[in-house]
Amino acid sequence: MAHRIITLSGDGIGPEIMAPTLELLRGIGEFEFEEHSFGGAAIDAYGTALTDETLAACREADAVLLAAVGGPRWDTTDPNAPRPEQGLLGLRKGLELYANLRPVRPLPALYEASPLRRERIEGTDLLVVRELTGGIYFGEKIRTETMASDVCAYTVTEIERIARTAFKAARSKVTSVDKANVLETSRLWRQVVMEVHGREFPNIELEHLLVDNAAMQLVSAPRHFDTILTENMFGDILSDEAAMITGSIGMLPSASLGDGSVPGLFEPVHGSAPDIAGQGLANPLAMFLSAALMLRHGLDLADEASAVESAVESALAGGLRTPDLGGKAGTAEATQAVLEHL
Ligand code: IPM
Ligand code: MG
Repeated sequence: MAHRIITLSGDGIGPEIMAPTLELLRGIGEFEFEEHSFGGAAIDAYGTALTDETLAACREADAVLLAAVGGPRWDTTDPNAPRPEQGLLGLRKGLELYANLRPVRPLPALYEASPLRRERIEGTDLLVVRELTGGIYFGEKIRTETMASDVCAYTVTEIERIARTAFKAARSKVTSVDKANVLETSRLWRQVVMEVHGREFPNIELEHLLVDNAAMQLVSAPRHFDTILTENMFGDILSDEAAMITGSIGMLPSASLGDGSVPGLFEPVHGSAPDIAGQGLANPLAMFLSAALMLRHGLDLADEASAVESAVESALAGGLRTPDLGGKAGTAEATQAVLEHL
């Protein structure tokens, strides 16, 4: 039976990287794709970034594939205006996709593309496990004429489930990142992570790092890390930083998973790149790699996932470089190079 995938192309370069991804997927399996308007495009069409109908369709699908949302057209500081990002946050929260996995593994072909020195990044293979439905992103927001506040809150249950995700994903070590010297949520985070560790995963090594120190070690000693477990906003910031280890944020895929009763959401870590939208220049590789994560984590098609990842790796080894990697290949050329190796 065909796998039923909701596609959310969104804004900016979104449609340009979604189209070749569907082409790639059609070459390796039976899929039924259903596109829904999302993000800024949905604000223009329906006045909201995520319609109830789209959320319901996502809930019924086998997986959700998302490209990117946002752009200057919808940028506003007006607290009452709809924002494209609300679509993304609404989808994550609506499906309770609390576990965001962002693997960071620089490919040998791209060692020279990273702003970090080769000896520093060589052999890095880490996973950022970011809590995705709690913390400051979803706490109460207040805005008056003279002040504003965002509440950061975590429950024990929220910390326990994401800690389990990280311990299960780790090969040998979990580095839990917090700001326990300042934040109460971080002190609870640290305590709960230690309890889950002692009770359920005593054979995995556990260390705690303060987030500022973790940010430094990520670029000074990236090989130090196996699995990084952290809360929503720290994970957002650290994963962009970690992306540069791979040479470009245009290389980083992500998977957002719930408790197993809901479909996963798969999207590149990068944004909608409005500056290059419509020019055929976007690097589609993070989107292809996100499709690979969908095959592996969302559809149980591990062999197909590995085939896509190897094709991307071979294309890069063969010299493929998009502009973000210092080359000239456009989206079509990059797609062709990957398809040739699939
Ligand atoms: C990400 C993005 C989103 C986030 C934005 C677009 C809301 O930066 O997925 O990392 O902050 O989670
Ligand atoms: Mg981000």
